[in-house]
Amino acid sequence: MLRTIVGTGYERALRPLLFKARGGDPESVHEDMIRALSVLAQLPGARDLARLSTRSASSPVEVAGIRFPGRVGLAAGMDKDGRAALAWQYLGFAFAELGTVTAQAQPGNERPRIFRAPESGGLVNRMGFNNHGALALANRLAVAGVFRGNGAAGIPLGVSLGKTKVVEVEDAVADYLASFDLVHPHADYIAVNVSSPNTPGLRSLQDGGALAELLGALTTRARQLRAADPVPVFVKVAPDLTFDQLDEVLGAATDASVSGLIATNTTLSREGLAPSDRHLADEAGGLSGRPLTARAREVVGYVAGHTDLPVIGSGGVMTADDAKSLLDVGASLVQIYTGFIYAGPALIASINEEVR
Ligand code: FNR
Repeated sequence: MLRTIVGTGYERALRPLLFKARGGDPESVHEDMIRALSVLAQLPGARDLARLSTRSASSPVEVAGIRFPGRVGLAAGMDKDGRAALAWQYLGFAFAELGTVTAQAQPGNERPRIFRAPESGGLVNRMGFNNHGALALANRLAVAGVFRGNGAAGIPLGVSLGKTKVVEVEDAVADYLASFDLVHPHADYIAVNVSSPNTPGLRSLQDGGALAELLGALTTRARQLRAADPVPVFVKVAPDLTFDQLDEVLGAATDASVSGLIATNTTLSREGLAPSDRHLADEAGGLSGRPLTARAREVVGYVAGHTDLPVIGSGGVMTADDAKSLLDVGASLVQIYTGFIYAGPALIASINEEVR
């Protein structure tokens, strides 16, 4: 009952307000939301109310040696600097992927850099890894008492790593390792982001040879640091790879003994935009949400069908049915970003109930 109110209340009342707030600038609204969530995590009454209104039964599942309290998590990019790291549990998420952070703090692209495609249920973004750097995230998590496996955030937290923009692609391995060394004590898993379309050259790291070198370096470092129990490393892929390219990725991932894959990131395609959103086809950046649903499902199905590694499905999960269909084609867990913006926290609860 309370959940229905939260669901319809969000879509009918809160979303229209949020979409108009701050002069219609999605990034400012996003910043306000992260600030509000970080305060919420400090207020016991607000925490309890949030927990109560988003509560749903979910079944725990173990993936890559990590115990997740349910199957739906927050996708990377929403909480880049981990400001709301302690809050996501109260919305019903079973895990959250913080970041993407880079070894050097950087401002990202010029604003505006997020655009809503409301008729299409989509977003176009070209944030460009704006973040305060891996050290700032590590410090924030340390202060919050979040260390790998200690459950201080209530749910497992992954940390997504990317390449610093000013670092040449040839020097990417050292750059990722620098971030890895800083954040690994605080991460239940590490996600290697080589699939954002908004850092020039980044996606070339998905090519077999380059990817093998990068993933090999990271999994080797993970074993050096904790031989008995290395931090699981996941690699996140783009939906725009061909099946041949995905085969290369799977080869590199298997050779490097990564723990799993995340499929997919945002797409460069502009298919699926409604006529009234067509003007966004000319904005540079990655498209997410409803226009990505079918392709993400296809890629998740392909990847899951060609490897024994666990797959986290991400892309166009706008309803509980979308989440279920990613699980049906082989995903072990799902993540949401754009669906959370359009449907609010009620989406998490309805996925939990659908897939339990
Ligand atoms: C993202 N995404 C993303 N992914 C990532 O690995 N690192 C990041 O920093 C970001 N940043 C980011 C910002 C914004 C504004 C959006 C909309 C998306 C991609 C995200 O995690 C997810 O993989 C895709 O958006 C597809 O899922 P949805 O949004 O269709 O549920």
